[in-house]
Amino acid sequence: MANMSVCEFRPGLEGIAAAQSSISCVDGQKGILEYRGIRIEELAEKSNFLETAYLLIWGELPTKEELEAFEHEIRYHRRIKYRIQDMMKCFPESGHPMDALQASAAALGLFYARRDLDNPVYIRAAVVRLLAKIPTMVAAFQLMRKGNEPVRPRDDLSYAANFLYMLNEQETDPLAAHIFDICLLLHAEHTMNASTFSARVTASTLTDPYAVVASAVGTLGGPLHGGANEEVIGMLEEIGSVENVRPYLEDCLERKARIMGFGHRVYKVKDPRATILQSLAEKLFEKFGHDKYYDIALEMEHVIEERLGQKGIYPNVDFYSGLVYRKLGIPTDLFTPVFAIARVAGWLAHWKEQLAENRIFRPTQVYNGLHNSHYIPMEKRSLLGKDHQTIY
Ligand code: ACO
Repeated sequence: MANMSVCEFRPGLEGIAAAQSSISCVDGQKGILEYRGIRIEELAEKSNFLETAYLLIWGELPTKEELEAFEHEIRYHRRIKYRIQDMMKCFPESGHPMDALQASAAALGLFYARRDLDNPVYIRAAVVRLLAKIPTMVAAFQLMRKGNEPVRPRDDLSYAANFLYMLNEQETDPLAAHIFDICLLLHAEHTMNASTFSARVTASTLTDPYAVVASAVGTLGGPLHGGANEEVIGMLEEIGSVENVRPYLEDCLERKARIMGFGHRVYKVKDPRATILQSLAEKLFEKFGHDKYYDIALEMEHVIEERLGQKGIYPNVDFYSGLVYRKLGIPTDLFTPVFAIARVAGWLAHWKEQLAENRIFRPTQVYNGLHNSHYIPMEKRSLLGKDHQTIY
């Protein structure tokens, strides 16, 4: 057969535009991130997560009335059905909360039947339900795996304060709630990353929005993507002291091991979100006490800059977020689900954008397998050289 592999293959689709989008923009050389044209630093200072989610999803900042209505709808839809809760109770306590979240997000589709994707009322209802219920599901799984009953959401609390209340079973300090809200805002959207691409591919088949979010949650969980924040804390604990930083990193570099929380496909300077998260961490330490792991983190940043700065390897969003979450009392294996709570906003914005000008994703491939092979009769096949392990 003639060689049909005429197209260029770029591993990881690096540098290939998968969509036209007006949702967010990154300048990786200058370290600039904008949501709908507004710099992330300005939003972190002046906005909040729900207002920013509205901006991302509907394309412009809401008026006072629009924001109030949106917040009201979200508060009203925070509760999850008992049957979803009962389903979650059957999940193994030892299971990872990201897997629990993926299954629960997909299960929402069982309860809210797929409707006309051209209907703005259906779109809005799906947006509201997902933004409202995902935090409740994350908190519920956390409590149920400890053997406790889930805490009912409170309508009088803000989005961030309510989540921390449901998680910690007590009201949260206002500064802590405010800082958590900014963390959500910072994680809400980030152009065509792996989970967003996953969301857009799923959306392009015109499936329901719960399947779109569930597929994105599955993608976010990997250690090269959102799962890195969890690994960063493990690494800081393993290093244990400032003196150990350099030998630990030298050893990693010699083994060519990846240092979690560093490096980014797009940023070649420090991720602007990492800079903001670092200052949030400092505010928390000032009020609630220092964390020795912060000193280790600072030394790591210093050594990595010295050793890998010329390659453009600097802290990414996952490096300082874990230190903030730790101080807020969030368990390490909930760091990535918390990332997902925020990123739902971006995934939904991309879902809407994809639907507006949809074409199903169907890339090609460069085939590098055999041609004109033949069926081999069983008695002529050999096990020699094959990795043959049977799982009982
Ligand atoms: N530690 C050590 N070296 C690194 C790191 C790292 N964290 N990241 C990149 N490099 C090196 C690579 O070894 C490679 O060096 P070489 O050219 O000498 O072979 C060079 O930098 C380029 O690396 P690539 O793998 O080509 O970069 P890519 O764009 O594919 O990877 C990624 C980006 C996956 C984020 C990578 O930097 C990484 O694995 N980081 C650690 C995991 C992490 O923190 N992920 C979170 C990213 S942010 C997010 O998803 C929310």
